[in-house]
Amino acid sequence: MSRQYRVAVVGATGAVGHEMRSILAERGFPVSELLPLASRRSAGIELEFGKECVECRELTPDSFAGVDIALFSAGASISREYAPIARDAGCVVVDNSSAWRVEPNVPLIVPEVNPHDADTHQGIIANPNCSTIQMVVALKPLHDAARIRRVVVSTYQAVSGTGAKAVTELIRQSDEILEGTPPLIEIYPHQIAFNCLPQIDAFLDDGSTKEEYKMVEETKKIMGDDSIAVTATCVRVPVYNGHSESVNLEFERDLSPERARDLLSAARGIVVSDDPDSLIYPMPIVASGTDPVYVGRIRRDSTVAHGLNLWIVADNLRKGAALNAVQIAELLVERDLVSVPG
Ligand code: A2P
Repeated sequence: MSRQYRVAVVGATGAVGHEMRSILAERGFPVSELLPLASRRSAGIELEFGKECVECRELTPDSFAGVDIALFSAGASISREYAPIARDAGCVVVDNSSAWRVEPNVPLIVPEVNPHDADTHQGIIANPNCSTIQMVVALKPLHDAARIRRVVVSTYQAVSGTGAKAVTELIRQSDEILEGTPPLIEIYPHQIAFNCLPQIDAFLDDGSTKEEYKMVEETKKIMGDDSIAVTATCVRVPVYNGHSESVNLEFERDLSPERARDLLSAARGIVVSDDPDSLIYPMPIVASGTDPVYVGRIRRDSTVAHGLNLWIVADNLRKGAALNAVQIAELLVERDLVSVPG
């Protein structure tokens, strides 16, 4: 019988943790035992895992004894504290937070783009930022064909990326506004219902935000090419789930929209949805709850020598977080990498 693994999900009660549990079950990951971990508040509650219910336990430094793989989705401070503890207990960590992504000896993996980077892991592997993941899945086949020089991206990011409480806030504020009462603002710096916020995460000294910085740095690391110039504007929009991106690309060599469409159609994990005559293009309501990265509105940008515009949409909780993390775990199994180098 092939090997089965003890798998911990840290942050198992959260929006991404919920998706991690269901995706592990859906994809038939070889789990001998699932260990859901969360804060003390959630200890003892029953959580679904496939057709079973598993009791959630409190995350403590002793949680990882005998665990083979831990998927972390409880935020950066928990990851910073507990990922090294898990690794030292012999458990390979796939971390969904930003805590380890730019560390030089931590691979940052999108399985469709740079699976080989997992080969040298030292116990912690980082799962990229949601907006970066869906973009690089689409960029990779185009970069291989015509070499991308510059990326200008604007994002339209759903509230589910902030967590379960932000979804509740959007619903509540929408009700309040429609009823004519002033909306209560708890999660974001401003009202999110019927609004757009050109701020995701904190501002940096140069006027960009941390989310924009992540897109720039992570894209270069995953693509393994520091020469790609990336500039990003990240915007939170009142969409429940599914991030959208307007992406403008400048290439070294010519790449026609037809050839780009063919390359993207042939690439793993991508669905080309691009038929403007029939009003078909990617939308969050179509992408939500599904696995692919959808690409459409593929057209020339004739203001530069070799330019293309794309519109990219994916489920940020699935491909942007939980699915990518589970795919990394699958990669570890396929390549026999489920062990922490001594
Ligand atoms: P809990 O539900 O017990 O608070 P989201 O991103 O959807 O808000 O989810 C955050 C996840 O991180 C939840 O599973 C939450 O568990 C978990 N979490 C928050 N704080 C801690 C903590 N101190 N220890 C362990 N898990 C935590």
